[in-house]
Amino acid sequence: MRSFAGRNILSTKGFERAEFDHVFAVADELEPIARRRRNTDLLAEKTLVTAFYQPSTRTRLAHESAMHRLGGRVVGFSDAKMTRAGDFYQESIKDTVKMLEYYGDVLVMRHFQQGAPHEAARWASIPVINAGDGWGEHPTQVLTDLYTVQRELGTIDGLTFCCIGDMRMRTMHSMAYALTQYDAEMIAIAPPEMALTDEFKAELAEQSFVIREVDHVADAIAEADVIYMEPVVQADYTASRQERGDDVGTTPENYRVTRDVLRKAKPEAIILHSLPRMDELPPDVDATRHARYWQEAYNGVVMRMALLALVLGAME
Ligand code: CP
Repeated sequence: MRSFAGRNILSTKGFERAEFDHVFAVADELEPIARRRRNTDLLAEKTLVTAFYQPSTRTRLAHESAMHRLGGRVVGFSDAKMTRAGDFYQESIKDTVKMLEYYGDVLVMRHFQQGAPHEAARWASIPVINAGDGWGEHPTQVLTDLYTVQRELGTIDGLTFCCIGDMRMRTMHSMAYALTQYDAEMIAIAPPEMALTDEFKAELAEQSFVIREVDHVADAIAEADVIYMEPVVQADYTASRQERGDDVGTTPENYRVTRDVLRKAKPEAIILHSLPRMDELPPDVDATRHARYWQEAYNGVVMRMALLALVLGAME
């Protein structure tokens, strides 16, 4: 297995099975720190730089919280409009990163352009973590999600993931790449205009990973061990920011997980949603035995602790 020290976390593509296992084991080791709400000094000499060109609640703050839990420092921006990259100068990723690499020891970047963190990694002398790039990928979220599945269900092998929502979403791409490493099935349920592309399906088929596509959640939910959700009513992830209009529309029943449709689910099936949600997951589902998205949010801090400790070489 390759060492994580100094490594970029840009994609789950190419992540090996042993690497997932190792990251989960390190997360398990660090989890008591988060559970006890204690801070340690594991990364006391280190600084995290956050460069968020798109809004975020969870990903940025979970990384920042993780860094604080491990005793490190944080600098960064959450609104590129307040930097030279977002004003008259439109400073390039290269020029921005050639500054940021001197301000800290690891860079976490979210960007509306697919591939922007990869571009940053070309120029940075410090590890770069992809916190979501356009419609590209969201590897730290999916590591969090699979860690949650592992903890909640004790395995990932042998499970059926019923993935509902916009298949163009970065989480869906990272999830499909990750599941190629497991003996798991993925069922995709998405509106036709948000379906998996033929190119993506062909790429996965090369790894003998074939995704079944179904029209309505009611036709697949009985098979699901993991109900993995994203909205279909959502912002354009290729834009730096999108305000909410008056008429955002509603989610068709095909892509909603309600208490009613959950009557068909296995008793032990769990629901994950990286959030934020719209009407595809009504709040009254929160009280069901299936909801695990708050646990997923907690694990988001634990997973970022593990990743920061690994790429900064504090854990082997
Ligand atoms: N899950 C997730 O990426 O949330 P944020 O957009 O709030 O970071």
